[in-house]
Amino acid sequence: MKIVCRCEDITEEDIIRAIEEYGCTTLAELKQILRLGMGHCQGRTCLPIAAKILARKTGKSMEEIMPSFRPPVVSIEVGVIAKKVKK
Ligand code: FES
Repeated sequence: MKIVCRCEDITEEDIIRAIEEYGCTTLAELKQILRLGMGHCQGRTCLPIAAKILARKTGKSMEEIMPSFRPPVVSIEVGVIAKKVKK
């Protein structure tokens, strides 16, 4: 058993089952069915791995599957933002 999403306890087998039985072809569909990428790390670890599994199972390219991450792509403390707003 290979754990893909540690935050939501989702295995590779769960992802393959969602692709084969429910017809998932996108990361958004895997999120809706499995809660993939919705844990504490917000998918930083699991989404790239799940994308590779999706690419392998569906024949899509990684560019088709991987979402474009919107900024901020790193964690920012609220205090840092608040200081910039006050200036
Ligand atoms: S490992 Fe999947 S959301 Fe954190």
